[in-house]
Amino acid sequence: MIRESLEYLLTPSNPLARKYGFFYQSIALKHRFNRCKIDWLPHLKNCQDLFNETVRNLPQKKSVAVLGSSHLHEIPLHLLTEHFQEITLVDIFHPLNHHRIAKRNPRLKLVTQDLSLTLAELDKLETWQDLVKHTEDLATKTLFHFDADLIISANILSQLGLLPMGSIERKLKRTLDVEQKDYICKAFAEAHLKSLKSCKGTKLLYADREVRYHDPQGELIFTGKYEVDFSEYKKLKEWDWLLAPLKEASKDYSIQMKIEAYSTT
Ligand SMILES: C[S@@+](CC[C@H](N)C(=O)[O-])C[C@H]1O[C@@H](n2cnc3c(N)ncnc32)[C@H](O)[C@@H]1O
Repeated sequence: MIRESLEYLLTPSNPLARKYGFFYQSIALKHRFNRCKIDWLPHLKNCQDLFNETVRNLPQKKSVAVLGSSHLHEIPLHLLTEHFQEITLVDIFHPLNHHRIAKRNPRLKLVTQDLSLTLAELDKLETWQDLVKHTEDLATKTLFHFDADLIISANILSQLGLLPMGSIERKLKRTLDVEQKDYICKAFAEAHLKSLKSCKGTKLLYADREVRYHDPQGELIFTGKYEVDFSEYKKLKEWDWLLAPLKEASKDYSIQMKIEAYSTT
């Protein structure tokens, strides 16, 4: 508890990221990784194998940018530094140890950025129509631009719509229905794909595309999925990731994700 309070005080961060709970999410992810890493190993290996394969085929290996870098559980820093001279980590919130390493290592640059251009607008979004209008505006904009030999979108795609949906639900005092949620998640994901495609360099993306809940007997009790247009991307691989084994998130179910990986030049 004392360590976490100190970490809270010492970690530099954007006030909006703190306000919207990214510090706590970051700490929660770190602890879940520590509890579940054995179950996560196949997922981590798939991410790293794909990274190594992509790097092998790059025409030039000077710079890499990782969008949604978080703790770099999936592609660890030592793999990035082994292959690239300049490493840029992009996230709305960076953990304290990355700030410390970046201070000592001029090859590592941290960019603290809202990749969805939404956080600063959240307070103004009051109704479902405001949120729809916001996503329509995003579809016409470039949300970010990075120029690197390799740009990795590292399991961030499905995260982008969650915060704005949660914010609207609190204001409306009701949950959005499944069609509304799918509409928003698709809009945020496609705006991300469009901006990623327009970045200069080879792109590698992996993201959770389906969630499945199983009861303690292993029976499938829920599946969630929304459509996303990946037609500008080439599918590389898909695999299952046991994100939360039974009793991690609930004693009543385990949570499994289907991950899909894509590339484009
Ligand atoms: C599931 S984690 C990614 C895991 C990471 N690739 C790893 O290996 O540890 C998703 C990350 O996306 C970041 N994120 C969510 N929404 C964001 C936004 N709008 N802009 C930038 N980063 C965002 C979160 O802070 C979080 O670190």
